[in-house]
Amino acid sequence: MPNRPSNREPNVGGDPPRSRWSREQAAGIERTPETVAPIIYPPESTPAKDVHVWDTWLLRDRHGRLADLDGWRVVFSLTAPKDLLPGKRHDVARIRYFYSRDGRQWHDGGPVFDGGALGQRQWAGSALYDDGDVYLYYTAAGTEGAAELTYTQRLAGASGGKVTTTDSSLSIDGPWTHRELLRPDGEWYETEPQSRGMIYTFRDPWFYEDPETGEVCLLFEANAPVPAGSDRCGGDPARQEFNGAVGVAVSPSGDPMEWELRPPILESVCTNQELERPHVVYWEGRYYLFVSSHMHTFAPGIEGYDALYGFVADSLGGPYRPLNDSGLVVTNPHNAPFQAYSWMAFPHREEILVESFFNYFDFAGDSLDEIAHLSEREQRRRFGGTLGPTIRLGVDGDRTRVLGTLDHWHIPTLNEPLPDFDVDDPAGAVP
Ligand code: FRU
Repeated sequence: MPNRPSNREPNVGGDPPRSRWSREQAAGIERTPETVAPIIYPPESTPAKDVHVWDTWLLRDRHGRLADLDGWRVVFSLTAPKDLLPGKRHDVARIRYFYSRDGRQWHDGGPVFDGGALGQRQWAGSALYDDGDVYLYYTAAGTEGAAELTYTQRLAGASGGKVTTTDSSLSIDGPWTHRELLRPDGEWYETEPQSRGMIYTFRDPWFYEDPETGEVCLLFEANAPVPAGSDRCGGDPARQEFNGAVGVAVSPSGDPMEWELRPPILESVCTNQELERPHVVYWEGRYYLFVSSHMHTFAPGIEGYDALYGFVADSLGGPYRPLNDSGLVVTNPHNAPFQAYSWMAFPHREEILVESFFNYFDFAGDSLDEIAHLSEREQRRRFGGTLGPTIRLGVDGDRTRVLGTLDHWHIPTLNEPLPDFDVDDPAGAVP
C-alpha cells in the first residue's frame, strides 16, 4: 500500500456529507458471474482440529501491510470448542492466533489472552504490529461479571503484546493491558437502550492509518439512532429499525490506545441493519470500503444475500458510492447461499484478495433459521468452521470481478506470485 507524504488536511471528522447506502441502490443486488464465488468443498485438513474458526484478521503494520516477523505471518481468529453447536459459538468466542511461514501451513498458537480480556467473550477486531509491539483491538461483548449472557458491546484494546520467534515457532505473549476504548454516544451511534429492532451493534474495531493524510483511524460497525416518530424511511417504523452505520474514531495524537468518536462515514438507514467488520483497502488512489452483511438484515422489501459489499471514494471520509452500482462484491452461489461469511479484503500485487470463513455448506435453505431445526449432528456436519478458499478479485474503478480462488487458508506473502487464471472461465480456475 503506497504511503504518500501528506499535504492534505484530515478528512474524517469534519461535517462530511454522510454517505448513504440507499434502498434504490440495494434494490439492484443480483447474483452475476462477476460476483458469485465458486462452490466450497471441505478441506482435507485444518490447523485447528478442536475449535471452530470464524472471523479472522491479519496482523498488519501501520501501513496496512501484512507484518513480517522474521519470516512468519500471523492471523487472529474467533474460536470456540468444536463440540459446541456452531450457533452457540458467539456466546463463548475467544481469540486465538495462528502463524505460518509459507502462508499455507498454519500452526495454532493457542488463545492470545491468558484471562483478563474485557467482556464475557471477545468478538471481532483487528491487530497492529508497531515498533515491536502488538496491539489487539476487539469487541468486548457482554459485561464481565454479569450472571446472565448480555449483548452489550464496547470497543476494547489490548497493548503490551510481544513477539518471540525461533526457526520453528512464534509466540505472542503479554502481559497485556486491556482498556475500554469507546462506547456509543447516543447521538451519532445508537446505544443499547435506544435500539428498537434486532440486537444493536457497536463492534469490530479496525485500525487504519490514512495513507494520504496520515490520520490514524479506527473504523467499526454501529447503528445510527433513529428516534421513534422520525420521518426517515417515509416514517415507516418497520424500515427504521434497519439502521446500520460504519463508524469512525480518530486518534489525534496517533496513540493507538486513545480515540475520539467522529460521525459515521457511511450509513444504511432504511436499507440494512448490519454493516459488519468494515475495513478499507487503498487501491490506485481510491478508498475501497468493504463490509459483510446478511440476507436477513436487509430491510423489508429488499432482497440481499450473505455477501461482501463494497463502496469507493476519493477520500476516507467519503462520499462513497457503491461498487457495481448495488454494492454487491462477492456472494455465495444460489445453491449454497451460506457457504461463507465475514469476508476480509487485502491488496496483493494487481489483485485484491478476500479471505472468509467456511460457514454452512450442503444447505440450500432460504434462511439460516432453518439450520436450527436440523439435528445436532446435521448442524455440526454442515458447518465448515475453518477458513474458506481465498478469493481473487479483479478491481477496475467502480467495478469488481471474481477471478478465481486459492486454497483454504492460503494467505500469500507480500510479493508471492499467484498462478495464472483461465481468462475464459476465470472463476472456475481453482489452482
Ligand atoms: C460477523 C460477526 C461480527 C462479530 C462476530 C461475533 O461474523 O457478527 O460482527 O464480531 O461475528 O461472533
